Amino acid sequence: MSVHTQNSRMTTAKIRQMKGVDKIAMLTAYDYTLATLADAAGVEILLVGDSASNIVCGNQTTLPITVDEMIFLTKGVVRAAQHALVISDMPFGSYQVSEEDAVRNAIKILKESGADAVKLEGGEEILPAIKHMIQAGVPVCGHLGLTPQSVNQFGGYGLRAKEEAEAAKLMHDAKLLDEAGCFCIVLEKIPAALAKQVTESVSCPVIGIGAGNGTDGQVLVMHDMLGLNNGFKPKFLRYFAELAGNVTTAIAGYVAAVKDSSFPSAEESY
Ligand code: KIV
Repeated sequence: MSVHTQNSRMTTAKIRQMKGVDKIAMLTAYDYTLATLADAAGVEILLVGDSASNIVCGNQTTLPITVDEMIFLTKGVVRAAQHALVISDMPFGSYQVSEEDAVRNAIKILKESGADAVKLEGGEEILPAIKHMIQAGVPVCGHLGLTPQSVNQFGGYGLRAKEEAEAAKLMHDAKLLDEAGCFCIVLEKIPAALAKQVTESVSCPVIGIGAGNGTDGQVLVMHDMLGLNNGFKPKFLRYFAELAGNVTTAIAGYVAAVKDSSFPSAEESY
């Protein structure tokens, strides 16, 4: 059973109601055109991920992207969202320095971009910031497990919470985020059994990426699942299309048609 009709916008309350009723489909989006297509295809949450730092800007990590760059990208996605809830990632450095800073940046993102909610990475360490944001009226999505903003601490993008101590901390953190009032939590790249246990232990929906099938929903990076990101194929990723080849073939065809003067034709001219 679905808790939404085609013409109604998703809200954080509706996302909460989906737990145990209907799986939640979330995808990243960074621009108006692809966000429009994803929204029309029935995605419930469009995440303007800080993975835009890699996918849109070509950086090696998510660390360089700024609050203003995230706002610029989020605006286009918000304009596209007729149905989906829009979450904007809080970039590295925008919430770790102080609680005041975190609340100020979260409010700036919501006010200037029109996003419905923000997402930030971490557990107990950032709990005071999360509590302040929620008290200020900012809906917050948590993010635990592989948290790419901490890549320099982890030393890579491997599976997290394999060991008992890290798994116990993750479970503890998830409960804290849930009690603090996060409306959902993303779990990235952790064992499926742990993700299922966490999902069953918290009241808010849990959305997985590389976290197995026992969560309340799934999220993928849109460019990855469309097969646009040539060569990137971790075990958890399914290509639902292989568009990189199509795009390259189309552009090569255009280049050839320009060079042999077959484009534009008489019909394509005024
Ligand atoms: O930035 C991002 O794309 C994300 C998803 C991988 C969950 O945080």
